[in-house]
Amino acid sequence: MAQELAAKGGPPAVTIDSGEQWKRSPEEEKAAVCKLIDEGFLTGSGTGLPLEFEQEFKEFIGCRYVLTTSHGHTALASCYFAAGLGAGDEFIHPTIGYIGSYAGALHMGATPVFCELDPKTLLADPADIERRITPKTRVINPIHMCGRVCDMDALLAICDRHNLVLVEDAAHAAGSEWGGVRIGNVGHIAGFSCQGISPRGKPLAAGEGGIVATNDRELYERALIYCHLHRTGAMDELTNPVYKQLEFQFLGWKWRAHPLAMAIARVSFKTLPERIAKFTATREELGEKIKDLPAIELAHNYPKAKGAELYGGLRFLYDPDALGGLTAARFCEALNAEGVPMRAGGFSHVEHLRAIYTKDLPGLWGRGHPGPANIPLPRYKEGDFPVSEGLRDRVLSLSGWIQPAPGLIDQVATGIRKVVDGYKALL
Ligand SMILES: Cc1ncc(COP(=O)(O)O)c(C=O)c1O
Repeated sequence: MAQELAAKGGPPAVTIDSGEQWKRSPEEEKAAVCKLIDEGFLTGSGTGLPLEFEQEFKEFIGCRYVLTTSHGHTALASCYFAAGLGAGDEFIHPTIGYIGSYAGALHMGATPVFCELDPKTLLADPADIERRITPKTRVINPIHMCGRVCDMDALLAICDRHNLVLVEDAAHAAGSEWGGVRIGNVGHIAGFSCQGISPRGKPLAAGEGGIVATNDRELYERALIYCHLHRTGAMDELTNPVYKQLEFQFLGWKWRAHPLAMAIARVSFKTLPERIAKFTATREELGEKIKDLPAIELAHNYPKAKGAELYGGLRFLYDPDALGGLTAARFCEALNAEGVPMRAGGFSHVEHLRAIYTKDLPGLWGRGHPGPANIPLPRYKEGDFPVSEGLRDRVLSLSGWIQPAPGLIDQVATGIRKVVDGYKALL
């Protein structure tokens, strides 16, 4: 006989510690940071540890050019500048996205055009992107959300057809691959984030930090003059005769990464391949154990994609209709009672319903601001993106594990099975 659900007073399925067992090494981080303090190396780029880290990351990705920055959003802003984005241009961004990803583009005066997510992969839908291209479109800005890789073949083909620049938001995707090639070496230009701390921070975590990666010399030089004011050796690096005339003054942003942050990033970097491999193995183990269940499945990945799904957790597709209309919230409550830390509602924020697109906010933008003060932002309303809005109650998240306690994945799978089998008691 089936066991009673824990939500109804039965014993929980998960009895062992469901916390992450993988631990970072604060000692190693302290040693790396203290070494720089002892050496008095606390500022600068194009030299010392930040340069060494750039070389290492470049080798890892396999791309030609890398710049470390203060944050992921400054890396991405530098990518938009590199792409030549400016007032009057449009860029396409998924409506389940992130303002920190495209704020740089907004502030350059470009207009966001949102696109739908594919309801199976939960990533920017290439067909919907192509429908939204106008003569003003200059950039496509997909997000490799939670390290899961967008359809790079389709996106690059769209860029070729319409002469666009692909600015990848790779904030979560250090180490993710497409067809065996690492992100940063596949598209035109990518911005990574190093925010947070391992194991729950970005895959390559430094507290704060970012990285620009590209194979395109012109894009690299434009990013360089935008965000690395006074980078050591920059004048020798530049080949574009116009940029050389800036004579080391560049365009004023000193968005280089802090050396102490890069010291921490380097420690995180050492364990990145191991963490990706372990996390992928536990995801696959769990996916395998629940693959026959109705109502719940892991979000689909493209066959050529291999994600570094270390940030943001595992995403599941939930079908309430398969469980008699049981809401995602009620389903998760019952899972939580079983000891399965599943969450609903991760997809409740859509970009197009943010205040800046739905409300009048007088005085918000300064006069003379190159962006929204002079170029009104588009107006959106509920219902404009039915596919993405419809995902709110159909996507669940579980943080996932690099190193679960032995036997945990079995118990988690049992907990999910128990609730799916016993859902009628919850209606
Ligand atoms: C999808 C996405 N893009 C960009 C960023 C910006 O990164 P940062 O916080 O390093 O500025 C983040 C940060 O969380 C993010 O999640």
